[in-house]
Amino acid sequence: MTKEGSNHFFFGGVDVVELVESYGTPLYVTDENKLRANFRGYKEAFETADTDIYYAVKANGNLTLLKILANEDAGADVFSAGELELAKTAGIPTEKILFNGNSKSEEDLRDAVESDVKVSVDSLDELKALSAVATEERKEVEIAIRVNPDVSPRVHPKIATGLKESKFGIPFYAVIPVCEEAKKLPNIALSGLHCHIGSQILDLSVFSEATEKMMLLVGKLHENGIELEFVDLGGGLGIGYTQEEKEIAPTPKELAEAILPVFEKKMHDFGINLKLVLEPGRSIVGATTILLSRVNAVKRAHKNFVAIDAGFNLLIRPVMYDAYHEVLVANKINERDSELYTVVGPICESGDVIAKDRMLPEVERGDLVAILDAGAYGFSMSSQYNGRPRCAEVLVCDGQVDLIRSRESIEDLIRNQKIPARFI
Ligand code: LLP
Repeated sequence: MTKEGSNHFFFGGVDVVELVESYGTPLYVTDENKLRANFRGYKEAFETADTDIYYAVKANGNLTLLKILANEDAGADVFSAGELELAKTAGIPTEKILFNGNSKSEEDLRDAVESDVKVSVDSLDELKALSAVATEERKEVEIAIRVNPDVSPRVHPKIATGLKESKFGIPFYAVIPVCEEAKKLPNIALSGLHCHIGSQILDLSVFSEATEKMMLLVGKLHENGIELEFVDLGGGLGIGYTQEEKEIAPTPKELAEAILPVFEKKMHDFGINLKLVLEPGRSIVGATTILLSRVNAVKRAHKNFVAIDAGFNLLIRPVMYDAYHEVLVANKINERDSELYTVVGPICESGDVIAKDRMLPEVERGDLVAILDAGAYGFSMSSQYNGRPRCAEVLVCDGQVDLIRSRESIEDLIRNQKIPARFI
């Protein structure tokens, strides 16, 4: 978005060039209206069915964002005790929190039981350990079984999670016996089946396939006298990062059209009613946020390198998944593209490339770059590598600006380190 007569990029009604004068760079900026609209898009798409949306906290665990989503009636998919605490702190009701994960410690299980949240059980080993913890705590714990449905989501191999080779879930053929075991174990209340087949999925047919497979299991359990309360189909809906993807990226409404007919027909066939749970992360927060970064140098070498102050320490997706993020020169928004540039970060590795071979207006030291669609798996996967404190985050809404995370300091890099007395 631009304002007439201005050469500056506006986001959430705010001139981002002015924004960094107050908050510095690098800076993550989230648009509250976009966040609310994305969540409401899901609610509306699934309003005809009994559906709960458990936002995947891993995508972006900022507390203000979580509070906004809690206010919109979101539940939460959490993957650790830390994410559980974030969800609870944000006021997400515990009955709408599912504790996921393939490697939960004794403390994780205890935390889940004490917090009265549901647990998605990933192995028989975990099931037995959870039953023991719940018995000790004298509480009944509601569980779902994480199913490995062996469905190929046709995405980058690192983010495909429902293939039989994947570490997640109980193999499809073993689900029924594990459910039967769960029914026998003390203090375990089996109430759901859960799967999550992958992320950044653009081909909706794989969601229909996963729904079919999950409902096949629901039917078999029903035949065996085991009734469930919900089926959780996970997250995974892709968003448009590139221009081509933007044209084809499915909406939550299209996702509903892929899932609901299968889900509802099977419920009708079995004569049962189940709640549907979804766990979207990326499609809720991805497009809500940009990362602003200052150009420290332009170097004409083998390529035209634009060296900015944010690298894979703050946005690892391009390096880890060859992901594409659109890049704009935020202070030259109306200038014509003039040359090919490769935008690189400040990290001491050649792989630290944020955007390869992009046509941009003439770039100079001091310019401001905006990296788009950085709200999912951006800050949440950031690190302090190379001794770089994590950056600040702000929320913008119709021209209003609020700081929602302070910039870390150099002191934060040192704070928890201990030097044994013999070295002092
Ligand atoms: N539920 C479970 C159990 C998950 O493991 C995930 C993501 C989600 C829900 C949310 O999926 P989403 O709607 O965001 O696709 N770091 C990678 C993505 C990893 C996804 C991990 N699991 C990336 O930046 O592309």
